[in-house]
Amino acid sequence: MIIVQLSDLHVRPAGVSAYGRVPTNDMLRAAIEQVNALRPRPDVVLATGDLVHAGEVEEYAMLRQLLAEFEMPVYLVLGNHDDRANFYKVLGDSEYLPEAGEFVQYTVEDHPVRLIGLDTLVPGRAGGELCERRLAWLEEALDAKPDRPTVLFMHHPPFRTNIEHMDVIGLEGAEAMGRLVERHPQIERILCGHVHRPIQVRWRGSLASTAPSTAHQVVLDLRPGAEGTFAMEPPGYQVHVWTRDTGIISHTANVGRFDGPHLFVDDGTGGVG
Ligand SMILES: [Fe+2]
Ligand SMILES: [Fe+2]
Repeated sequence: MIIVQLSDLHVRPAGVSAYGRVPTNDMLRAAIEQVNALRPRPDVVLATGDLVHAGEVEEYAMLRQLLAEFEMPVYLVLGNHDDRANFYKVLGDSEYLPEAGEFVQYTVEDHPVRLIGLDTLVPGRAGGELCERRLAWLEEALDAKPDRPTVLFMHHPPFRTNIEHMDVIGLEGAEAMGRLVERHPQIERILCGHVHRPIQVRWRGSLASTAPSTAHQVVLDLRPGAEGTFAMEPPGYQVHVWTRDTGIISHTANVGRFDGPHLFVDDGTGGVG
């Protein structure tokens, strides 16, 4: 099973950029084109929040139009830039989604790896939360299928990144989530977004990670007190490949046209690679 993870699409209305300079829609279109061209073909696409930039209906309509280009099923979770009500207005008819309710959390049972989407959105706040009710739902979902390899996917990462301006808008409830994760070794991965960079950490007996954005990237600046900045580093996405024998092996891919591919030739320096 091949799981592609896109994150932080920050879609805008047609012809509008994010932060006055990031052509997020065109960048998403390029990512979709590249994912559709992957061989073997990915089985599913996960999008880990900040689907649109301002939570507007017009943006979700654009998102819907763009996502229709995917040749495989796409599962969405919400980020701090999203709006639940507007999301449901435009995309609420997707079969995998629960009835419009308080939170957008669901399991996907159709694939060898069980997928569990979590909702960390708190309206009006940049940071996220897994409150008691959301965690109780997660606990029940995990208890129901302890033997199935499982991926959790969500927007706000439950771990510190040391990029301070992102950590201050992190996840409340991470400690309680961690206790749950420790008790459920079927969790192969916790796939997150929000930080617009690929980051990995061993976390509570599992592996947690964030994905690059398909749009702008957060600058890698580990200095305490550093101002939050973004840069147009190459956008990217994650490719998580699962087999029964290996579990999940995760790759980071960049979107764009780069020189190559070139064949390795033996130039007497120690072989290829
Ligand atoms: Fe984002
Ligand atoms: Fe975010």
